[in-house]
Amino acid sequence: MMVQHLAVLASGGGSNFRAILRAIESGTLPLACPLLVSNTPRAGALAIAREHGCAAVVLNPRDYDREADYTDALIGLLEQYRIDLVALAGYLRKIPARVVAAFRHRMVNIHPALLPDFGGPGLYGRQVHAAVLASGVRQSGATIHFVDEEYDTGPIILQAQVPILPGDTPETLAARVLSEEHRLYPRVLGLLARGRISVNGRQVAVEP
Ligand code: GRF
Repeated sequence: MMVQHLAVLASGGGSNFRAILRAIESGTLPLACPLLVSNTPRAGALAIAREHGCAAVVLNPRDYDREADYTDALIGLLEQYRIDLVALAGYLRKIPARVVAAFRHRMVNIHPALLPDFGGPGLYGRQVHAAVLASGVRQSGATIHFVDEEYDTGPIILQAQVPILPGDTPETLAARVLSEEHRLYPRVLGLLARGRISVNGRQVAVEP
């Protein structure tokens, strides 16, 4: 079978992106990653892409007068690199509905909490962990889900849990969750690449 092409979309430092590239380069993740897209030239993920021979493209929706033109540009880019799978890794812009539809069940996102709690608009980065700690729950974690038309609401694929520990701050909790994210993302992408994930409505079945 042909190796599928993955595009990663990232707005930030790119540590999940780096974990994905490492898994590809070590031979444990059977994908090629020819494309990294960011909405901002400040994303650390761009430099990581260049170091790993992956095209690093900045595509900012704010540079387009019409959302339709931005959508066309994003779809054109994904077609140009023959992208089969899209992974959002700290990408802070909403994906246009036309792109979501074109990549239905082929586009995934990682969220640093146990969805369906602590997700949605405005809940990203430090705010997520602050909200988790303020709520008093005993566990947090990371969720990988298919992307749908809303923020953080698509069918859940897999989750990893971490404990909340005495004295946790948003920063210590974020670090604990992030190290789980780095394991979870390559694992889920590997399952997708090997065709081990099927979706029926909101229910996702994962074959080991
Ligand atoms: C991660 O915590 C991810 O769950 C969230 O944004 C963060 C991105 O971190 N969506 P990095 O850029 O991969 O280091």
